Amino acid sequence: MHAEAKWLKDYQPPVFEVMDLKLRFELAPTSTVVTNSLCCQLANGQVLSDMLLDGECLTLVSIRLNDQLLASSDYRVTDTQLIIHQATLAQAVAPYQLDIVTEINPQANTALEGLYLSSGRFCTQCEAEGFRKITYFFDRPDVLTTYQTTVIADKAKYPTLLANGNLVSQTDLPDGRHQAVWVDPHKKPCYLFALVAGEFGCLTDHYTTAEGREVLLEIYTEPRHLAKCRHAMDSLIASMKWDEQRFGLSYDLDRYMIVAVDDFNMGAMENKGLNVFNSKFVLADADSATDIDSEGVEAVIAHEYFHNWTGNRVTCRDWFQLTLKEGLTVFRDQEFTADMLSAPVKRIEDVRRLRSHQFAEDAGPMAHPIQPQSYIEMNNFYTLTVYEKGAEVVRLYQTLLGRDGFRKGMDLYFQRHDGQAVTVDDFRLAMTDANGRNLTQMQAWYQQAGTPKVAVKITYQPEQQAWLLDFEQHNPKAPKADPLLIPIKLAAFDGQGRAWSLATCANDDAALTQVAGEWVYLLTEATQTLRVTGAPADLVWSLLRDFSAPVILDYAMTPADRLHLAKFDTDPFNRWEMVQQLLLADLISQVQQHEAHQLDSQQVRPAEAVVTVLKTLLTEAITDSTRTDVDWAWYGYALSLPDIGYVIEQFEPVPIATLLQVYPAYQRALGVALADLWQQTYHTQTAQLSTDYAYNAQAIGRRLLKNRALQAWLASGDAAAVTAAQAQYQRQAHMTDVSASLQGLMQWHEAESEPLMQDFYQRWADQPLVLDKWFAWQAGYGKVQGLSGVQRLLEHPAFSWTNPNRVRSVLGSFARLNLALFHQTDGAGYQWLADQVLRLDAINPQVAARMVVPLIQWRRYQPQQQAQMRQVLQDLHTKIASKDVFEIVSKALE
Ligand code: ARG
Ligand code: ZN
Repeated sequence: MHAEAKWLKDYQPPVFEVMDLKLRFELAPTSTVVTNSLCCQLANGQVLSDMLLDGECLTLVSIRLNDQLLASSDYRVTDTQLIIHQATLAQAVAPYQLDIVTEINPQANTALEGLYLSSGRFCTQCEAEGFRKITYFFDRPDVLTTYQTTVIADKAKYPTLLANGNLVSQTDLPDGRHQAVWVDPHKKPCYLFALVAGEFGCLTDHYTTAEGREVLLEIYTEPRHLAKCRHAMDSLIASMKWDEQRFGLSYDLDRYMIVAVDDFNMGAMENKGLNVFNSKFVLADADSATDIDSEGVEAVIAHEYFHNWTGNRVTCRDWFQLTLKEGLTVFRDQEFTADMLSAPVKRIEDVRRLRSHQFAEDAGPMAHPIQPQSYIEMNNFYTLTVYEKGAEVVRLYQTLLGRDGFRKGMDLYFQRHDGQAVTVDDFRLAMTDANGRNLTQMQAWYQQAGTPKVAVKITYQPEQQAWLLDFEQHNPKAPKADPLLIPIKLAAFDGQGRAWSLATCANDDAALTQVAGEWVYLLTEATQTLRVTGAPADLVWSLLRDFSAPVILDYAMTPADRLHLAKFDTDPFNRWEMVQQLLLADLISQVQQHEAHQLDSQQVRPAEAVVTVLKTLLTEAITDSTRTDVDWAWYGYALSLPDIGYVIEQFEPVPIATLLQVYPAYQRALGVALADLWQQTYHTQTAQLSTDYAYNAQAIGRRLLKNRALQAWLASGDAAAVTAAQAQYQRQAHMTDVSASLQGLMQWHEAESEPLMQDFYQRWADQPLVLDKWFAWQAGYGKVQGLSGVQRLLEHPAFSWTNPNRVRSVLGSFARLNLALFHQTDGAGYQWLADQVLRLDAINPQVAARMVVPLIQWRRYQPQQQAQMRQVLQDLHTKIASKDVFEIVSKALE
């Protein structure tokens, strides 16, 4: 297979400027006719050349130029373009009015890009380059224009007809058809185009903006799911209010529509005025959705809403700038969730995800800067790096400038660039100019792949009463790269646990500044030393507080110092971090001993210090259980082991077989060592929870802690825990509890889970999102039947290759969670996944490209796994048809 890469350095501004676009769709499942009337002219300073319009999988019917039918000699059509010859244009008078008629087959579109059908409903997905599968156009984000969309379809089958903007008219036509005309007054790039048609129920509400605009809010879904849309609507209203309060940004159309569809490649899409969502991020009620699901709905609804300013009003010049809108919008949704629920807990959740998934991506063959330099398939760059690391980089500005300075930068960014397609440099310059700060060094964060390491050595000189903090930064993926601007939030606590003020030494060192009451030390050089004088000898340093930069801090703290901060640090993030580091260090050392044959898995025992700290936390949680001012989710996360993904990150090569024995053995041992306390925590928290489900930080936190305790108690093997979990399942209070009991049983007592899993299937067979869980738990935790158990899931009548959620729930959960089967010694787990990727590639390349990712880390493993994984990849490389999977597998084999 041969596929060309596109490069950032080759960027050229558009030759033509589009003044207006009118689209007319005559919808029919296998043959939809699209009439595209576009009015364009040469852009400023451009000279006439061939006109290149993007288009793929289109059947061209006719082209008119200024009302003249073109002959086939006037243009040429390739697999990817319609090219109107310069000579043809030279004979016409500008502006050019083009009327292009094409035909497409939405029913055959299983790639779910362009116009397709989901459960008999038409919908579109155009980002990044899907519009070219709908009609010939300049499919690039820096060509903006106004749209008028006419949708025509059979009225009985497709009673609802939607497109971007405002509804201008809706009329009945002969032959049982009807038509709707929509006009979007805001200029937009074609990736924000959307069309929806089908049978829907609609939940409506209203919002009055700070500017006094009355906005109609509508959520469309399958009629039977209407009752599950309330949480999404509340989240939307909260987002609209929050963006006005925090950033002074109001909505700009009279209508805001959200449509839920079952078949969707990603989470959701911010099309102007008409978001299309994976129903997973719309539908939620207590019975069918867990707390995590509901938090996902709230965050994604907010995310897509926030895109209206960061993405739509100000968009990207080209796809290399994707992080301009995604990093910024993720940052905004993180801040929103922090304000809605618990800020420290949100930070912990985000850092956990970053470390267990983004760090791995950044260390592997797909590593790329948040502003990539090239791509073969753009869809492969909707990554944790562009999104989550991108959000961390945006957060750096706020850390450096404070909330007010950041807001000033945002205001200037909108003032300068509203209505434009811009670059990450424009964003940085707005931050720079609004604050009168030189932020040139921030550029390097956009250009380097890899997670930077910051090594710290701390010494005390008693004669001078001076602390020396030696910092050294380096990026293993980019050893020669320029040093980065890295803000290290820091504090120190004395032997009694009192915060020690850095104020006395601040004048000495310009790199030590105070931002919003927090001390920030700015690293700008490869090596740098902070000298703090007149300070007592018993200080313990708290560094990188609140995870102030996306780096790996390499700082060998003593367990005693970690314990001290776990107790006294005033930053809840770092208190959590200290407990996690104690656990991680202990886990690593047990894996190492085991690997050196000094232990067998029976002998895995948590260290005394670990047991002590967890005991303290559990005792506190039990004693304080009636208090309502405690962040219970914080306890839940502090009492959880570091994710196995993060533990894997710590090894090179990864002793996977050992790790997969030690990790669960460690979980079991922790369960046993503290069984009574887990049990009491479970009961005391259960007693505090009302039987009615409530969505707020208190209740969510209590459920999280309670279910973490249940899990650990189940791991201990105590029969009473099994009984408690079964009873929790039987109560059917809400999905959070049902899910926790089933997952815990499946992991630790698979045989006992079986009748409950059957019961679960009976209850939920007709609810796809819930059934996804049933598939995911078996694929992720089922061990007894081995690989054939997972294979059987694919043969289940409810399995579907064309529904991405279902595919992810089996293939994704298998490779992410069922590590014992995925890494089984004969390599059959790798082969099985590769076989499924190949099969999926013919149906949905975008999703196939995601599913192959667990295999690409092969170089990190020991020789046997390396050879097995590489063999599987090489084999896949010769067979694969899509450039999506091709790009990833090629990079993995480079
Ligand atoms: N812009 C969307 C979001 O982050 C993601 C769309 C990505 N879709 C895709 N096929 N690559 O909200
Ligand atoms: Zn986004």
